[in-house]
Amino acid sequence: MAETKAARVYVTRELPSTALDLLAEAVTIRVWPGELPPPPEVLLAEAADVDALLTLLTDRIDAAIMSAAPRLRVISNMAVGYDNIDVEEASRRGILVTNTPGILIKTTADFAFALLLAAARRVVEADRYTRQGRWKTWEPQTLLGQDVHDATLGVVGLGGVGLEVAKRGRGFGMRVLYCDGIRKLEEERRYGLVYVELEQLLAESDFISLHVPLTSETHHLVGERELSLMKPTAVLINTARGPVVDQRALWRFLEERRIAAAAIDVSEEEPIAPDDPLLGLDNIIITPHIASASVATRLSMAKMAVDNLLTALRGQVPPQCVNREAVRRWRRALPR
Ligand code: GLV
Repeated sequence: MAETKAARVYVTRELPSTALDLLAEAVTIRVWPGELPPPPEVLLAEAADVDALLTLLTDRIDAAIMSAAPRLRVISNMAVGYDNIDVEEASRRGILVTNTPGILIKTTADFAFALLLAAARRVVEADRYTRQGRWKTWEPQTLLGQDVHDATLGVVGLGGVGLEVAKRGRGFGMRVLYCDGIRKLEEERRYGLVYVELEQLLAESDFISLHVPLTSETHHLVGERELSLMKPTAVLINTARGPVVDQRALWRFLEERRIAAAAIDVSEEEPIAPDDPLLGLDNIIITPHIASASVATRLSMAKMAVDNLLTALRGQVPPQCVNREAVRRWRRALPR
C-alpha cells in the first residue's frame, strides 16, 4: 500500500495541529470534531472505508470495528498503553497496532512523583483549607503530613516509567524497592534499587507507586489482600491503569484509615462517576488521567502516532509495532 493521498485515515480527536498537518499532507484524513470520544456507531461507520485509524486510549477498538473496516491495515494508538484495542483480533486479521512508548516516560514519572509529594504533604487538602478561610494562624498540629526523604518507596513494575520514578525517589534520598516479572540487575546496581517480591514491597514501603500495564494478570493486582499487607501509614499512587486497583477495596481501606492516603490519575471507570464514594474522601487525590499531559510530550506523542501510521502505510513495519506476530499476514494483504 503506497502512502498516497488515496489512503484514507480516520482520526478520533483533534490533535496538535503540527501533527495533524503532517498527516493531512500525506493522506486523506477525516477528524472527529467532538470533545468526547466518537460514539461506537460513529466509529463503526467511519471505519468502513479507511486504511488506518489514529486512536486514543478512550476508543474501544474491538472485533466489531475491525469487521466493519475491510481495508484497515494499521491502528495507531496515541498512548503507551493499548488495552483499549483487541490486539489478538488485530493480529488475526493482519492489522498492525502501534503505540507511543519512550517519549512520555519522564513526563509521566514527574507526575507520579508530583502526586506522591502532594499526597505525602497534603497539598490539595491544604489548598482547600486556605480557600475555605480556615488559615487563622501558624498551627503546630495542623495538616501534618509525612516525610518523603528517607522513606521507603516501592515501585511495582520497573519498566520505563517505573525506573524514572525510582530514580526520582533516589534523588529524594529514599530507599527504593521494586518488584517486576524480570529482575533488572544492571538498574539495581546503577541506581541502588532493591529487588523484592510484591508482598515484601507492600509490607515495607511508605509509598507504593504502580507502573504495570493492564492485562488479565494485573487486573486488581492491588485488592483487599494486598491493601491489608500495607502499613497503616502507607500511601498508594496509581498512574498506570484504574483496573489495576480494586477501587471498592481501596475506598474501604481509605475510609477506615487502614492506609493513610492515595493519589490516583486513573480510575476503574473513566471518567470516575460523580457519585463514586472515593470522591467523598479527603485522603485521596484524584486527577483526570493527565500524567503525560505536558505541552511538549503530548505533541511528541501525536507526532509519533502520525509517524507510526505513515510508516505502516508506506509498507514498512514501524519500530513501535506492538504485534509483530501480525506482520506476515499484514504483508500478504498489502497491494502489490
Ligand atoms: C496513558 O495512559 C498512556 O497509556 O499513554
